[in-house]
Amino acid sequence: MAPKILIMGPQGAGKGTQSQRIVEAYGVKHITTGGALRANKQRDISDLDLEYDTPGAYMEAGELVPDVVVDAIVEAALDEVDGFVLDGYPRNIDQAEALDEMTDIDVVLVLEVSRETSVKRLTGRRVDPETGENYHTEFDMPDDEAVRERLVQREDDTQEAVETRLDVFEEETAPAIDHYSDHEGYTTIDGEQSPDAVWADIDAAVERKVEGS
Ligand code: AP5
Repeated sequence: MAPKILIMGPQGAGKGTQSQRIVEAYGVKHITTGGALRANKQRDISDLDLEYDTPGAYMEAGELVPDVVVDAIVEAALDEVDGFVLDGYPRNIDQAEALDEMTDIDVVLVLEVSRETSVKRLTGRRVDPETGENYHTEFDMPDDEAVRERLVQREDDTQEAVETRLDVFEEETAPAIDHYSDHEGYTTIDGEQSPDAVWADIDAAVERKVEGS
């Protein structure tokens, strides 16, 4: 059966980068709340009577989009798939408890990087608006000049928004990671390594957990 994988860790740990590899290797779907919210940035949520009227306003400020919006996105996405890699959810204890009600998870991958590494990776990240592929000004630029020229920076990858996002991670998401510390599929991965070395550790961990189940 296709595995159900959670990938967790601070901003810039490489969750999006490694999720792509998991999709290719295990044939699962990539469910990313960040991606889903970016596609619905301007959606009118004023009827919910919250602090802001669109998901995009929370994202640009580096804040979490309210649970009521995000939980519904994840529940709908999970209904349509078998195996998956869930990236960017849960991000707080309430979301972790909501997920417990929605499905069972086989593997919990926690990518660990320092705050310094997160800041460096995110402020240097550039995205290809046509393919959604991530690059980095220092570590990973595309060979094709046409692609290089069209790269853009995400609005929440400015220094200020990154610092806020990392504060939110420490306060809200670190406890959500702890929620899984006794889960039999829980594995920590050294995210400071090269993308290939991180992938080798992830692949071995998923194989081990899936075979052992
Ligand atoms: P989201 O899109 O989920 O962003 P994030 O969690 O902040 O994660 P990032 O995409 O920044 O990091 P990543 O770990 O995926 O890093 P990547 O692989 O790209 O969320 C955005 C916003 O949406 C949130 O702030 C919030 O407002 C909202 N939101 C989302 N989910 C929510 C939820 N559940 N509840 C409420 N709100 C929610 O790598 C980063 C860079 O590093 C790239 O340039 C890459 O090329 C490079 N890189 C990757 N790995 C390596 C490596 N090993 N060595 C060197 N460089 C590397």
